[in-house]
Amino acid sequence: MSHDLFEAARAAMAKCHAPYSKFPVGAALRTEDGRVFAGANIENASYPEGWCAETTALSHYVMAGGGRITEIAVVAEKMAKITPCGGCRQRLAEFSGPDTKLHLCDDTGVVKTVTMAEILPLGFRGDVLK
Ligand code: THU
Repeated sequence: MSHDLFEAARAAMAKCHAPYSKFPVGAALRTEDGRVFAGANIENASYPEGWCAETTALSHYVMAGGGRITEIAVVAEKMAKITPCGGCRQRLAEFSGPDTKLHLCDDTGVVKTVTMAEILPLGFRGDVLK
């Protein structure tokens, strides 16, 4: 059920550190065995040192041992249907498959669902480095 993933993303968003942009973002992802990892954007007075909500969620996921990601939810309180930035699309693709669902949310729940293949077509894949 994707609504609980939205709720996890929204709860994470409330913990953001975004005093500079004042643009809170939350992200949550679920692995096929049902674990959920969430995160918020964490900014820094040295602006380029901040990072996105998706990146925080991925950090929790990697530290917990990873696994196959089945779905991801992203929410921003000031924007309906926020889509991950280019860098986060690449980071999410590192651990997702082309069919992994990405739920774009507003403040009430999922508004639109796309796949990773749709959000990052022709992305760079690590296969060529092997
Ligand atoms: N942000 C995210 O957390 N995820 C995105 O996909 C887009 C942007 C954050 C970064 C920054 O803290 C704020 O939104 C404004 O760019």
